Amino acid sequence: MEEKILSIRRAAREAISVDATNLKELDAIRVKFLGKKGELSQLMRGMGQLDEDARRNIGKLFHAARTEIEALIADKTAELKSKELAEKLATEKIDITLPGRRVHSGRLHPLTLTLNRVKEIFLQMGYTVEDGPEVETDYYNFEALNLPKDHPARDMQDSFYITDEILMRTQTSPVQARTMERHSNNEPIRMIAPGRVYRRDDYDASHSPMFTQVEGLVIDERITFGDLKGTLEYFLKQMFGEKARMRLRPSFFPFTEPSAEVDVSCVMCGGHGTDCKVCHGSGWLEILGAGMVHPDVLSMSGYDPKVVSGFAFGLGIERIAMLKYGVDDMRLFYDNDVRFLNQF
Ligand code: FA5
Ligand code: MG
Repeated sequence: MEEKILSIRRAAREAISVDATNLKELDAIRVKFLGKKGELSQLMRGMGQLDEDARRNIGKLFHAARTEIEALIADKTAELKSKELAEKLATEKIDITLPGRRVHSGRLHPLTLTLNRVKEIFLQMGYTVEDGPEVETDYYNFEALNLPKDHPARDMQDSFYITDEILMRTQTSPVQARTMERHSNNEPIRMIAPGRVYRRDDYDASHSPMFTQVEGLVIDERITFGDLKGTLEYFLKQMFGEKARMRLRPSFFPFTEPSAEVDVSCVMCGGHGTDCKVCHGSGWLEILGAGMVHPDVLSMSGYDPKVVSGFAFGLGIERIAMLKYGVDDMRLFYDNDVRFLNQF
């Protein structure tokens, strides 16, 4: 029996140090030598036949054999584990010096950025933001603005008609009438109305058949042309900085009297004008039309021109964006070339 125990120890040593090349094999070896049906356990069953002294001796040998084999397996387990980890690290290596993949995020369109800034400036002055339809009736687009059918001034804005009575709005001014109609008792109004408008205009560096306007309307007792001028001056300085210069030119709109068109000094050429694609050499760019609301326009929409007065204006957002960002061709806003859009 002694011999057998010694030979099991030898076989186990050999198996553990040579045969076990991974944890799975090592576990099979453990079962073979130490398991319930393993070689040591089998042998121990024969101990019953021995006398007490022999049993004590052999018992010690069993214990020593088991202890040695367990220790060897524990050592080997640790060795194989660190070997497997090293292999895993080698094959699953991550090169942290590689440059990361770039995440492409969207951004706001320059016209949206400009519109947001315009809204912000007027919201700070206490204006509300109103809305109106792009497909508009002839009544709101023209008649309510003092442009009866066959009025020659209708030619100022060549229109896209859908039926005789319905058209794509040529301006945001119809929202003036729509807003006034929602009020009664000469209630004061201080609103802007941004949106798209459509005209049969050329498509060139400073014109587009679809463009963006922001309407403004202020109605209250004793509103004067001075209020209009001060408001526009404040707006333009907020938009373009203190250095921006503004010029009012007498003009005509059927819905305002008196009327003006407002130019801003051209930032593209610094107002010098020479060979400038944006201002066509004049040093100025027209960005809005404005005036004192015509008494007939007030009364058509339920306001009493003997009690209140008002001013109105209509800004061209594309022109403002061109000046703000130094863009020399309006068509760039609609091409959607990412090389252009990425710059904002
Ligand atoms: C009007 O549309 C008037 N409704 C403005 C107004 C409102 C006057 C309230 C008085 C009271 P006008 O047609 O000039 O006016 O256009 C206003 C602005 O829109 C212009 O100053 C210009 O900045 C812009 N604009 C006009 N046509 C085009 C176009 N084809 N492409 C891009 N912007 C344009
Ligand atoms: Mg004009």
